[in-house]
Amino acid sequence: MSKKIITAVGAGAVLLFAAQSAFAVEEAISKGRKVYERGGCEACHGPGAEGGGAFPNLVNGLKALSKEQFAATVTNGKGAMRAFKDNKMVMDGMDNLYAYLKARSDGTVPGGKLE
Ligand code: HEC
Repeated sequence: MSKKIITAVGAGAVLLFAAQSAFAVEEAISKGRKVYERGGCEACHGPGAEGGGAFPNLVNGLKALSKEQFAATVTNGKGAMRAFKDNKMVMDGMDNLYAYLKARSDGTVPGGKLE
């Protein structure tokens, strides 16, 4: 193989990898949106995660919370928010849930259902 071909193959692989990881991120966000709804987070924190009344705005909250702090709050609860440690769907979906709320926080995705 000539050097040019090797370089082209290398660039192709990098592009393919970038496309695949962009797809994986999108999939995590869309799965996380479903966990957000089915886990009941939406009922208190609102369809766009903007909160209201006694329920904190997670779009702002996720700007300051680390992933570990987020997971600890969801796992163990906080104040009027119950613990989700017994909810397998939420616990298994923690990474996706975080990816979704982080994307809301970054303004990458709009509020409400994504489909
Ligand atoms: C029954 C209503 C209710 C439900 C359901 C609920 N929360 Fe909460 N959540 C709250 C309240 C109230 C607080 C504020 C607790 C406090 O600070 O005392 C809170 C706090 C939080 C915080 C901390 C925010 C911050 O800025 O410190 C996060 C993160 C959070 N909730 C995520 C979630 C997620 C994710 C779900 C779904 C798995 C969920 N909540 C379900 C009521 C709820």
